Amino acid sequence: MKSWTRRRLLEQGGLAAASLLVRAGWAQTSNAMQMSYARPSAARTLDASKLESFVDPLPLPVLQTPQGRRSSPVHGAVDAPYYAIHIRAIESRLHRDLPPSCLWGYGATSAPVLFEAQSGQGILIDWFNDLPPQHLFTLDPPRDGVAQGPPTRVVTHVHGARVPSISDGYPEDWFVPGNHRLCYYPNRQEAAALWAHDHAMGVNRFNIFAGLMGWYLIRDEVEQGLGLPSGKYELPLLLYDRSFDLQGQLYYPNPPDEGAWAQEFLGDAMVVNGKVRPYHEVEPRKYRLRIANTANSRFFSLSLSNGQSFHMIGSDQGLLAAPVEMTRLVIAPAERADLVVDFSHARGQNIILQSDELELMQFRIGRDAVDDPGQLPASLRPIERIAEEAAARTRFMTLNEFDNDNGMAMVMLLNRKHWMDPVTERVKLDSVEIWSLANLTQDTHPIHLHLVRFQILDRRSFSVDDYLASNALPLRYTGPAMQPAAHEMGWKDVVQCPPGMVTRILIPFQGYAGRYVWHCHILEHEANEMMRPYEIFS
Ligand code: C2O
Ligand code: CU
Ligand code: CU
Repeated sequence: MKSWTRRRLLEQGGLAAASLLVRAGWAQTSNAMQMSYARPSAARTLDASKLESFVDPLPLPVLQTPQGRRSSPVHGAVDAPYYAIHIRAIESRLHRDLPPSCLWGYGATSAPVLFEAQSGQGILIDWFNDLPPQHLFTLDPPRDGVAQGPPTRVVTHVHGARVPSISDGYPEDWFVPGNHRLCYYPNRQEAAALWAHDHAMGVNRFNIFAGLMGWYLIRDEVEQGLGLPSGKYELPLLLYDRSFDLQGQLYYPNPPDEGAWAQEFLGDAMVVNGKVRPYHEVEPRKYRLRIANTANSRFFSLSLSNGQSFHMIGSDQGLLAAPVEMTRLVIAPAERADLVVDFSHARGQNIILQSDELELMQFRIGRDAVDDPGQLPASLRPIERIAEEAAARTRFMTLNEFDNDNGMAMVMLLNRKHWMDPVTERVKLDSVEIWSLANLTQDTHPIHLHLVRFQILDRRSFSVDDYLASNALPLRYTGPAMQPAAHEMGWKDVVQCPPGMVTRILIPFQGYAGRYVWHCHILEHEANEMMRPYEIFS
């Protein structure tokens, strides 16, 4: 697996035959990403490995409190908690030995904000754009047919939320400094770890990079009845990577400093909740770690440095049916993992949460035994697997990369369609569909749909060469259909689509009619232009 060599698939004109190395053991997805050539150039960035590890305490997310209650008839919101969030430029230190960095935030520091809501109880969030007129980063040149606004436009999306489309943060619903947007989140969904992030067309990878991300946890009675570690024993952790310039400011590699736009971003500073490689003191007992990968492109391959196992109890859209014991977890951009780690196995030790050889953070475990009454339940929440026969139709769609004439930038598409092409995915509300995603590229793409939750059916390798030569179905399969791993058997909203494979997901389109989007959650891919609108009609 390690000797896998990267060759870009060139789908010239969409038809030319190209050879592809299909990796059988696709679970090693992180390798593909680590070999990206879109690293910031060393001359412009400081070497983050020189920053001392584990000198800053882990920042805890900052719980938001409502500024009262309001009704909003257009949203159907009646006497709901009302939050006003001011999106603004801030300065915050990301490491003891760095100067304060210029960031953007939903809150006052680099620590993530946290919204907490009870299932079935809606909340209103008023998002204010209080940004200055200039962006922190050099933006892209204007793109054909895509409305270009002022540089510091924003629109917030709560990832994983089942919301009417007016509150979903459609990419073209951005608004500019001096404006605000009131959004209603009904929270008619099960307990899950959602996260808020920017989604403004053409700029969200910069806006998120600048800091526009936060937590949104939904609770419900099923979860609360399980006796899981809570309070200070529950730690929400946002994991991402950044680079710094020689002055200690965030560095994003974009022209004119770097050649072409970055097809993936990989930084050398691993950040957890707004600090570079922090530490946290814990008691020798069970903790619940709510993890979200909020990196632009990086896949994390998580493990603990002492080799101990942990239990995964939930994924993107909530609890699994039962805990899954594992020692290593590959988590793609935008995926979430709900983990229970028992630190009593490492009393008095310091252990590191790591991604392969990269250090993310350190846990300093107390020496003295403590009471830990809660047992991890053997079953969590029943998950009914939906039968394939429930699907009204199957859509076969391809994930594409096209070489560009200049040999520099690549165009990446969903089903060979650009953002501005007319809507092709029109789905009936309350119907079930299978989306069959055939990956013709050499990257694993984490594909995400707004509004819905889905189940992964299977993955199967096929001959990309044959498909490109004929440009027609049926596919020639080169292996058996593979069931998802145990930890992928819950409700998902992001699915890893490995290269050379068809990944099938089964989606009940429930919630609301309206226009939403689906896209690759590698933000650099999404921007260029692995993102498409889709429509639900009633
Ligand atoms: Cu994390 Cu379009 O979303
Ligand atoms: Cu989303
Ligand atoms: Cu992608």
